[in-house]
Amino acid sequence: MKTNISITALLLTIFFVGCGTGKKQTQNNMTEQKVDSVLALMTLDEKIGQMTQYAVSWDLTGPPSNMDDKEKLDKIKRGMVGSMLKVVSVKATRETQRLVMGNSRLKIPMIFGYDVIHGFKTIFPVPLGESASWDLKMIRKSAEIAAKEASAAGINWTFAPMLDVSRDARWGRIMEGAGEDPYLGSMIAVARVKGFQGDDLSNDKTIAACAKHFAGYGFAEAGMDYNTVNVGIHELHNAILPPFKAAAKAGVATFMNSFNEIDGIPSTGNRNLQRDILKGDWNWNGFIVSDWGSIVEMINHGYAKDKKHAAEIAVKAGCDMDMESYAYNPDLKTLVEEGKVPIDLIDDAVRRILRIKFDLGLFDDPYKYCNEEREKDEIYTKENLKLAREVAKRSIVLLKNDGRILPLEKKGKTIAVIGPLADDKDSPLGNWRAQGVKNSAVSLLEGIKKAVGENTKIIYAKGCDLTISTLKEEENQFLMPIKFNTTDRSGFPEAIRAARKADVVIMAIGEDAYQTGEGRSQVSIELKGLQTELLKAVYKVNKNIVVVLMNGRPLSLKWESENIPAILECWLLGSESGNAIADVLFGDYNPSGKLPVSFPYSVGQEPLYYNHKNTGRPFNPEHVTYTGYRDSPKTALYPFGFGLSYTDFEYSNLKTDRSTMKANETALVTVDVKNTGERDGEEVIQLYIHDVMGSLTRPVRELKGFQKIFLKAGETKTVSFKIDRSSLEFYTASNKWEVEPGDFEIFVGGDSKTEMKVLLTVEK
Ligand code: BGC
Repeated sequence: MKTNISITALLLTIFFVGCGTGKKQTQNNMTEQKVDSVLALMTLDEKIGQMTQYAVSWDLTGPPSNMDDKEKLDKIKRGMVGSMLKVVSVKATRETQRLVMGNSRLKIPMIFGYDVIHGFKTIFPVPLGESASWDLKMIRKSAEIAAKEASAAGINWTFAPMLDVSRDARWGRIMEGAGEDPYLGSMIAVARVKGFQGDDLSNDKTIAACAKHFAGYGFAEAGMDYNTVNVGIHELHNAILPPFKAAAKAGVATFMNSFNEIDGIPSTGNRNLQRDILKGDWNWNGFIVSDWGSIVEMINHGYAKDKKHAAEIAVKAGCDMDMESYAYNPDLKTLVEEGKVPIDLIDDAVRRILRIKFDLGLFDDPYKYCNEEREKDEIYTKENLKLAREVAKRSIVLLKNDGRILPLEKKGKTIAVIGPLADDKDSPLGNWRAQGVKNSAVSLLEGIKKAVGENTKIIYAKGCDLTISTLKEEENQFLMPIKFNTTDRSGFPEAIRAARKADVVIMAIGEDAYQTGEGRSQVSIELKGLQTELLKAVYKVNKNIVVVLMNGRPLSLKWESENIPAILECWLLGSESGNAIADVLFGDYNPSGKLPVSFPYSVGQEPLYYNHKNTGRPFNPEHVTYTGYRDSPKTALYPFGFGLSYTDFEYSNLKTDRSTMKANETALVTVDVKNTGERDGEEVIQLYIHDVMGSLTRPVRELKGFQKIFLKAGETKTVSFKIDRSSLEFYTASNKWEVEPGDFEIFVGGDSKTEMKVLLTVEK
């Protein structure tokens, strides 16, 4: 089909015929009309082009050097590529968009995707760490800054947030999500989606978000990346889907499906998940992109016989865009021509993609994200770094503080700062760091020196390396294996001397930046290499130790928890890491983080999560056998929701305004919380329910509400929570979301182990 019709002229006409009731409705109707009118002009090739996403493999501002790339370039010019990923910078996105606008028949603007996971160039804490803040406002703000920076560099779509509930510390990608809880995960999902997208996707400082990986990816067997997932339909709905449902409801523009299979069906080819649940039951109208190559990977799964078959399965299941499988283009065309794939499915996918492009305002101005001024002025600014420090200090969790060794005095002491991570300016940036510059983080040593000034003597000793680094400067760390069998103890004597001379030792240990992330699963979660040996050597000469942990997953810290007086969980905190940790070490900020994930005694307990089911034989001292281990506690060393403060909080007067209610009524739960210490501080007040009996077995408790509040020293506040249908319902044996009448125990406290409870009965 040949046409000279200008899409812009056509769209202007539509603008004047907008109809509907509310403003939003009118806008939606108009977008639908615009989408339909563009769709009507498109050939099958052009439609399939919109469903195709390629990664950049050459510098798009210059000519390609090999055949594959020449072919890609030709497709871009012919409007046969709807999206590119990893094209970053105003110059590169502008040049690419120009190729489309200057050459293609219909000039449908391209959308540029990128993994902006925890910041663009200003790097925020890894998502798991940031989730430990339980601070939804700050989490939203950090996504907002990430979007602002990314959009200033031509990007208009991030592959975030990752919403995979993950219960297994061995899984490398646990660092990318919000931890083990579906409720906390849902609240954080909404905060992140709203942060990236704002209230208006067409604003040039917001970008489209992507809820990933749909679904079940975090439940990989044995925590091994990409591994098989076997969950039943009820577990799927109750434990895995809630954050995705929350994101869909919050208007997330896109979804990404996942690499794993669930119960024999790869998610990419899972019709029930994508078409029935997401696009059907949830009535969501954005588009689904595949994960990288996940369409073609269905051949390895043994679910598709070849690439063409994989394309057929994926498109029928509801996967709208092909990321790097090279399957939709060219195979979809043949499939349609052979009558195997109805054109309606193609039209539906293209409609969804065009809709988001309209929502982003790309049809109005395809270059709206290409602004050199913004790229110069709005990235890695002082203001953004300041916010990164605020978020980072709120993400720190105080795990132990015997004898109130923390906070430290700033004056007059000698402090030894020891450990492989003490002066590391790179690891705190973590994996998935987008445009974060190598070695650009504030190291702990730098942070401490700045905080204490001249009056305190700081002695630094590295002690040992974290890992063996075989990397040359130009090699890509992301792709390289990490080697832990370092044997070089030559730094030990200096570390021991430093510890001897010091009043207090700050010991910075943990994980390498790339020890967590995609393809980074491990069978053990202890401190690797020589770190424990170094810690024990230092401990022999000075017991006054504060362990500062930097890591992207829960670690097993049995020895440390028994012997070291103070432990601070600092995750991988991003650009401002050292400053944020110093803020907490010296008491300029009173730590308020709470664990979003359980820390085990031993890796053998994994998967470990607080919201597990009871068995028929829970612990009973009179029984010889019960659910547990003979060589380890079965509970967490540090439970979900746990975190100390430099002050203490006392809970009292827990009550409900009624002892019975009907499913459609509400009850009010109140509790008094008092700061009984001498410092101001923040506390996360957590509400858990236990549905005592159900048509299906129910978790021993489930988080259903939380509030982070600030209390001055000595101050008391009454905190209230509303209990309604949403707190009590679950996906029942009838495969519906229902509240089942019966007794509910309601626990309130500062972590998931709280014993303070009231009873509420739901009547028929
Ligand atoms: C990951 C996704 C990511 C994509 C694009 C895949 O390997 O699983 O999370 O968004 O690559 O970089």
